[in-house]
Amino acid sequence: MAEKSWETLEDACNRCRKCRLWEMRTHVVIGRGNPNADIMFIGEGPGEQEDLTGRAFVGAAGKLLDKMLASVGLSDKEVYIANVVKCRPPGNRDPHEDERQACLNYLRYQLLLVQPKIIVCLGRVAAQTILASDFRITKERGIWTERKGYHMIATYHPSALLRDETKKRPAWEDMKAIRAKWDELKG
Ligand code: URA
Ligand code: SF4
Repeated sequence: MAEKSWETLEDACNRCRKCRLWEMRTHVVIGRGNPNADIMFIGEGPGEQEDLTGRAFVGAAGKLLDKMLASVGLSDKEVYIANVVKCRPPGNRDPHEDERQACLNYLRYQLLLVQPKIIVCLGRVAAQTILASDFRITKERGIWTERKGYHMIATYHPSALLRDETKKRPAWEDMKAIRAKWDELKG
């Protein structure tokens, strides 16, 4: 197999028709931020603004995510931000199981390119795809696990914080814990 590269990943995604989500996409959305980051955030899938621009987390949820990162002294200069599926589910519905599975190899490839130390699942869909199919975000967010050399944690999706203000405090605690883990790993 050819050497792994971002170009290979982008070409494959741009041509991809492995699930029905290709049909309505304007742009494939791969991710944004530092491609060599220690921390990788994984959301659900592109929304409207992301589909239109081809960039991850640029809408209202993305702006809140950037604010939360800034509150612990981080930005997308230090982190990389991607999604489980690379094409927008119509009307922002949850990506179906077959769509998530169809797209998962691209995320795996992306992980090999970024080689993060910390993986943060944003919301239930990412946590159930990456951590455990029965993951309960309310009960199990904020708990670290270690797998395949990655330190992994889930927190609320920023869209959930926009709908429910009471989730902001625990999400901020998670963000502080992520920052602390990063400091610890950096030594
Ligand atoms: N929500 C997501 O899960 N991902 C994005 O890129 C934007 C909104
Ligand atoms: Fe391919 Fe993923 Fe887009 Fe589905 S969502 S068409 S698997 S790139």
